[in-house]
Amino acid sequence: MTAFPRRPSRDDSALHYGADYNPEQWPRETWREDIALMQEAGVTVVTLAVFSWARIQPTEDTWDFTWLDEIIDMLSKAGIDVDLATSTASPPAWLTMKHPEVLPVTYDGHILWQGGRQHWRPTSPLFRQYALEVTRRLAERYGHNPAVVAWHVNNELGGANVFDYSDDAAAAFRAWLRGHYDDLEDLNAAWGTSFWSQHYARWEEILPPRQAGAQNNPGQVLDFQRFSGDALRDHLAAETAILHELSPGVPVTTNLMLAANYQSIDYSAWARDTDFISNDHYLLPGEGGIEELAFSASATSAIADGEPWWLMEHATSAVNWRTVNPAKRPGQLRRDSLTHLGHGADAICFFQWRASAAGGERFHSAMVPHAGRHSRVFREVTALGRELRSLREVAGSPSLPARCALVFDYETWLLFQGDSMPDNRIEYREELVRWYRVFADLGLRVDVVCPQNDLARYDFLAAPLLHLVPSTLAARLREAVESGTHLVTTYFSGIADEHARVYLGGYPGALRGLLGVRVDEMRPLLDGTTLMVDGGGTMANGLAGSWCEPVEIVSPEVEVLRTYSDCQDTLKAGLQPGTPAVTRRTLGRGSAAYVSTRLEHSALSDLLAELIARAGITADLPTPLAGEVIASVRRGDQADYWTLTNRGRVDLGPADDVAALLGGTVLGGAHTLGLDDAIVVRVPRR
Ligand code: GAL
Repeated sequence: MTAFPRRPSRDDSALHYGADYNPEQWPRETWREDIALMQEAGVTVVTLAVFSWARIQPTEDTWDFTWLDEIIDMLSKAGIDVDLATSTASPPAWLTMKHPEVLPVTYDGHILWQGGRQHWRPTSPLFRQYALEVTRRLAERYGHNPAVVAWHVNNELGGANVFDYSDDAAAAFRAWLRGHYDDLEDLNAAWGTSFWSQHYARWEEILPPRQAGAQNNPGQVLDFQRFSGDALRDHLAAETAILHELSPGVPVTTNLMLAANYQSIDYSAWARDTDFISNDHYLLPGEGGIEELAFSASATSAIADGEPWWLMEHATSAVNWRTVNPAKRPGQLRRDSLTHLGHGADAICFFQWRASAAGGERFHSAMVPHAGRHSRVFREVTALGRELRSLREVAGSPSLPARCALVFDYETWLLFQGDSMPDNRIEYREELVRWYRVFADLGLRVDVVCPQNDLARYDFLAAPLLHLVPSTLAARLREAVESGTHLVTTYFSGIADEHARVYLGGYPGALRGLLGVRVDEMRPLLDGTTLMVDGGGTMANGLAGSWCEPVEIVSPEVEVLRTYSDCQDTLKAGLQPGTPAVTRRTLGRGSAAYVSTRLEHSALSDLLAELIARAGITADLPTPLAGEVIASVRRGDQADYWTLTNRGRVDLGPADDVAALLGGTVLGGAHTLGLDDAIVVRVPRR
């Protein structure tokens, strides 16, 4: 990170608070009301011009900045800062009518037409030219405007158009491949193109993995996913270069999508592409949503390398794009915001300021709902604005790493999108969130990290379903274990290299040596098959399913922690009762455990509790908080700031009593830690 936006102009705050603001959807009278309401709500920053290209450049030869000049001036006079978007997310109709060749093409060959948004090819040289022109004009005009505290490149790069299969994409893909492989034979070998007569004799024969009559080549698909992410990064870099040139000192960001509803990009590669990290997150409604939110917020913190980041978008209440869009309950808007803050967010922003009256998002919640200021949501929005001002001392403090981490590998996630796996039911991210929940149940903080992060800093590392393990990662995991990290991984880990090629000689491939076990056959199980694992009297028994394996022990340091029990389904699965199900090997100062089946919740919880206890780690939280809250910690100069989010099962009573359990005091004036609450506790550092 080279720069972070300066503190808000409103001098009574240090945390930024605001929303996407789309004044172009409203008449001038509404603008005046908007500014008054923003002041009432404590808004410090708004993101302008995200989808304003057609308004700024109504025809190819005309430009209109008057409205933008006017609203920036009004905001600035009111002390409200601007995060100015480059407007390139949604090209105007004149452009795509004149140049339909900038429109993206789907996997099955359909064109994504105008009339929605994000209808542009990341690799179109023509689109790039137009997009950079609008970026340049904006940067020239506003690059030195003191109201602009940050630049916002495009919007959610790679939403609808992440995978473009057009001819432009084909040409750029070939160029990308030439840069990544020594020669064509190197590529043929990596992709295994001897299979199904897929050999390439000339670079020109290579296409994006378009819809074919049978499964696409997995190596090709994986490279295309990487290429597609890089194509967007290239667009980001091109806009950023202009902004840096014409608006020096004003930090640049782009809003990432680390959330459950997106699965397209390896964001771990984007960590150094912008001056600061920002993220969009939308709560999963129903049970477990808050843990998923914390998981995503922690993953964002890892991309930001523990430094503060911005929550660029979340919702005050319902979204509009699920089958059913439940409203948030009273308090949840605050709870969600503070949970992000606890994981490092120094800006709490929403999509959007005022709920649209027309257009595809007219039923999406906002800070000012259709009902206007006399509404529950606006009251909660205003209360949160006040509370954030009283939390100002948290701003700027980095996240304090936990002792435990969960490894989330984006490339494994991408690869699981494909078919032809032994078990196509595997939901990698959901499975990791399930593990996250178990850590929370045990009263432990856990960081969600990516393989590029410093893994050896953690005392305990969980890496379930870590399918794609290049030899370099296998070596780093081994080093971490030898130097004292306690690792646990599962079935279907270590199987493939960076080209999705299977390691030979037995599973779990690249991790076989480290784990000291060998498996000659994967055994996914049909739904309804229930296995028992046996802890041998001293350790807990438990239920398992989905997968099992005939695990063979190959290293003398391996201890068996669970075996497959003698039950009907074990025999049906073709396993001998007594076969090792979970093992643990000591190595150097650490250990490496292997779980060959999918343990049900309580069995997983029992196992992790045992492994963590043996690693000498105790709960981060005292009773009665352990299990009932998600905790995150930011390290200030004088104090640690603990954010405690109630997981919604038990009312934890007066906030002061809760804070006292941690030896701290409540910051921000919260009274209770009820079911939909979160509190921030200031714990002085001794
Ligand atoms: C985001 C997007 C916003 C808005 C929001 C609705 O993906 O960046 O512009 O559409 O979703 O939830």
